[in-house]
Amino acid sequence: MKLLSKKTLLINGSPKGERSLTFRVANAFAEGLSSKDGSETECIHVSQLNVKPCTGCLSCWGRTESICVIKDDSIPMVRDKILSADTIIMAFPIYFFGMPGTLKTVIDRLLGIFCTFRGQELDNIKAGRHALRSPREGQRLAVIASCGFSESAEAFYPIKVQYDLCIGEDKYARFCCPQLKALAQAGSGQRFEKILSLSRQAGEQFAVGQIDPGLVETLEKPVLSQKTYRMLMEKFWQDEKGAE
Ligand SMILES: Cc1cc2nc3c(=O)[nH]c(=O)nc-3n(C[C@H](O)[C@H](O)[C@H](O)COP(=O)(O)O)c2cc1C
Repeated sequence: MKLLSKKTLLINGSPKGERSLTFRVANAFAEGLSSKDGSETECIHVSQLNVKPCTGCLSCWGRTESICVIKDDSIPMVRDKILSADTIIMAFPIYFFGMPGTLKTVIDRLLGIFCTFRGQELDNIKAGRHALRSPREGQRLAVIASCGFSESAEAFYPIKVQYDLCIGEDKYARFCCPQLKALAQAGSGQRFEKILSLSRQAGEQFAVGQIDPGLVETLEKPVLSQKTYRMLMEKFWQDEKGAE
C-alpha cells in the first residue's frame, strides 16, 4: 500500500505573487522541508484569490459551527486546504509593520476555524487565544516574512506579538529577512542566493525539529552595511524616477 505523502501548504501573502522575494525565500524553505520529510508543497497566492471581507456577523462562531456564511468566493477552498495540511508556511512582506491587508482579509474570514472566545483568562502569552478549533494532529506552522529595512526585529515585532497572542509564543517557527529588496538589487544576486540556501537549511531543520536559533539569527541579520544599503536604495529610487 502506497503511503500518502505529507502536505505542505505555502500561503504567499505578497501582492507580487510568484515575483515576491519573500515567496522565493519561503519556497526554498519548503524545498528543504520536503527534502527531509518527503512532503508535497502546494502554493496559494493570495493575489490570485477572490476574497470578500469578513462582515463581522460572528455566525461562524455560533449558528453555523465554523462555516462562514459567505460561500461564493475562494475562502471555502483555502479553509479546506489549511485544515488538511501537515505544515502551513505563511509567507508575506512586512507592510507598515504588519501584514499586507489582502492576507489579513483572508485570515479574518477564517475566524470560524479558530476557537470561540468564551471569556477565557488572557494572562498567559504561551497559550494562544485563537488556536485552531480542531487542529490536525501534528500540524505545524512556520511564518516567514521579509522587510525592506535593515532592522528586522523592529519591523517584525508587531507580527510576532500578533502570532504569539493568537497561536502561542512557542507554537510556531518564524523568521524575518531584512533588506531583501536591496539585496536582490545588489549586483550578481549571489547574496540573495545565500539567503535562499540558508532558508532551505532552515526548512531541513524544521522537518526534523526546531530551526537552530543561530540560523534564525543569521537569516535575520542585515547582509549589507548601512552605507551600501543606503547607496543601493538611492540608486534604486533614482532609476525608478528615470523610468517614469
Ligand atoms: C505598502 C508597503 C509598505 C511597506 N512597509 C514596510 C515597513 O513598514 N517596514 C519595512 O521594513 N518594509 C516595508 N515595506 C517593504 C517590503 O516589506 C519589502 O520590500 C519586502 O521585502 C517585499 O517583499 P516581496 O517581494 O515578497 O513583496 C513596505 C512595502 C510596501 C509596498
